[in-house]
Order: sequence, then C-alpha cells, then structure tokens
Amino acid sequence: MRHCVLVTGGAGYIGSHTLVELLSNEIEVIVVDNFCNSSKEALRRVEEITKKSIKLYPYDCCDKELLEEVFRQNTFDAVIHFAGYKAVGESVRVPLKYFRNNLISTLNLLELSEKYQVKNFIFSSSATVYGVPKTVPVSEESEIFAMSPYGQSKCMIEQMLTSFSKAHSDWNIAILRYFNPIGAHPSGKIGEEPRGIPNNLLPYITQVAIGKLPYLTVFGKDYPTEDGTCIRDYIHVCDLACGHLLALRKLYTNCGRVVYNLGTGKGYSVLEVIHAFEEASGLKIPYQIGPRREGDVPQNFASVEKAKKELNFVAKYDLHQMCEDAWRWQQKNPKGYQEE
Ligand SMILES: NC(=O)c1ccc[n+]([C@@H]2O[C@H](COP(=O)([O-])OP(=O)(O)OC[C@H]3O[C@@H](n4cnc5c(N)ncnc54)[C@H](O)[C@@H]3O)[C@@H](O)[C@H]2O)c1
Repeated sequence: MRHCVLVTGGAGYIGSHTLVELLSNEIEVIVVDNFCNSSKEALRRVEEITKKSIKLYPYDCCDKELLEEVFRQNTFDAVIHFAGYKAVGESVRVPLKYFRNNLISTLNLLELSEKYQVKNFIFSSSATVYGVPKTVPVSEESEIFAMSPYGQSKCMIEQMLTSFSKAHSDWNIAILRYFNPIGAHPSGKIGEEPRGIPNNLLPYITQVAIGKLPYLTVFGKDYPTEDGTCIRDYIHVCDLACGHLLALRKLYTNCGRVVYNLGTGKGYSVLEVIHAFEEASGLKIPYQIGPRREGDVPQNFASVEKAKKELNFVAKYDLHQMCEDAWRWQQKNPKGYQEE
C-alpha cells in the first residue's frame, strides 16, 4: 500500500531530513510550513536529493481554516507534526508566543485529524520534558517536569495527546522525545540554519570555525562531570529522521499511543564535542570558559532500549561523523540557504 504523510514544519532542520528519509522510502509527502524559521530552498534541495517532488502549502498551522484546505484537498494516512517554536531562552522571555504557536497548531491538527479520520500522528517532543533528571540514562518512564515555557508546551501537548488517545482507542500516536540533533545530510545540501546567534553548541562551533563568530563560550566548567562541562546525548539528524520512518511503520501496526526516546544512549561533554569537531575539521576552535547558564542540567542522556526493542532503532552515526557532516554543510553553505 502506498502511504502519504502530512508533514508540518517540513522545511525545518529535522523536517527536511525526515522528508528525505520518507521520500527515499517511497512515501509521498505534503508539507505545511509558514517558513517562520526556514526557507523554501530547503525543500528545493530535498527535491534535488531525492528527485521527487513535494506538494507545499505555505500556511500557518495556527490558521485552522487554511489548514482545513489541506485536509479537504488531499488524502493522507498520517501526520508528522514538527511545526513549532523551539528556542528555550526566547520562550522564557515571551512565553505566550510559545504556548500560542505550539499548542494551537497541535490542537488544530488534532481536531482536523479527528474530523477527517487521519488516525496516525507523530509528535516532536523533546528530552527537555525530563527537566533535571534524578538519574541518567533517562527512560520513557522517568518523571516529566519541564522548566521552560518551551518544555512546558511540549509537556502540555504530550498530555493532550495522551487524553486524546484514551478517548480514541483506534488512534495511533507516537510521541518522540529527541535528544540533541546535530549534523547534516552527508550530501552537504541540507542542514541546520540558525537565525541570528545559534542557541545550540554545534552550530555555534561551526560558525566559529568559519570565522562568523570569534570564539565559543563554554557555559560552566564546575559541573559534577569528568571534565566539569555539561554532558548531552547528541544524535545525527539523519538517524533521527530514520527514527520517524520506523515510528511511522510502528503506527501502521495499530499500536495505540507509544512514547520513545530518540538518542544514541551515549553522553558527550562540551569539551569532548569541541575536540571531536577539531579532529573532524582539522581546525582549532578558540573557546573561553563562562559562567553556568541558567537552567542547564549537568548531564542528560537517553535510555534507548525501548526504541531499540520496539522500533528496531539503533543510531548509526558516531560523533565524528556528526561533526564531519555539520562542517561539510557549513562550508558548502556559509550563508545557510541564502544565495551567495
Ligand atoms: N532541534 C532540536 O534541537 C530539537 C530538539 C527536540 C525537539 N525539537 C522539536 O522538533 C521540531 C522540529 O525542530 P527543528 O529543529 O526542525 O526546528 P525548525 O525551526 O528548524 O523547524 C520547525 C519548522 O516549523 C515551521 N513552523 C513553525 N511554526 C509554524 C506554524 N505555526 N505553521 C507552519 N509552520 C511552522 C518553521 O518555519 C520551521 O520550518 C520542533 O517541534 C522542535 O520543538 C527540536
């Protein structure tokens, strides 16, 4: 049977890599993206990589009337919902912006999925829902406690999905909790394009490497970890994309509501990432030690047993490859998707 999937936020970082994975596996896609944090060029490049075409609706998922057009005009059997805001720091400053976009877009999608009987739904959640984990690795059973409005929006949506699933036993919902996606497609054609100063470590490092930023600040060297810097679970964005394909296949078996961590299960410190990048690029990354950043937890990495057992998900790329691919993307696209 030929599948077709509605992908919201498909032009974004994780969305674009997932489109490649879906299209390469003969799954048709329809994209809804208002390009508030992405560019159309990303979709053009996905078409170039896959040699397949993408049907695009440049709509805001918060506009329910427009979104309904997509449901009326197309037949698809699943929704993958990436669209949303994701900057933790910004969410602290403007929480309502985050609650509006993240919650309303999901509510609209769920109501329309219900109306048009699209019974398979994948949601982009985040490791941030684990707050300050009591122990690591964190399993899907660990307590959920978000500290930022961004994380709270993810927790609220998870609850919304859980209640919806209780009321609809014939619905299949996958909540995927991503750890730290980095890297880029090995072609160097698509990757992460942060607007302004990057919030995440690797895009910051690559921008220092290319000379756009003078040096990296490491936030805190007095954490209770081996080298004193924070430890995170970094996962190659192409592995993450593959996780969506596997989750989709799981939904097609009528599994009900499922929750999976998507990470590698291995934690790396900030200094280890810097050194891995230096090795992969042959460059020296100037950095200085700054104070701790509010809200950062010393370490967080995933228990990946459940995804391995139930989805057959195992991350293939190691940290060196993640750095190599991120660097290739940065070098080939010093201005991101903007034309030179
Ligand atoms: N990148 C990460 O580190 C990370 C980690 C955990 C979870 N997530 C979640 O994964 C999802 C995708 O993240 P990403 O890194 O690809 O982000 P991204 O910003 O690159 O992609 C999000 C896409 O959604 C679009 N969008 C946002 N609001 C929209 C709306 N109302 N209507 C239509 N389109 C809209 C943006 O234009 C963008 O193309 C997000 O929900 C994010 O919270 C990301």
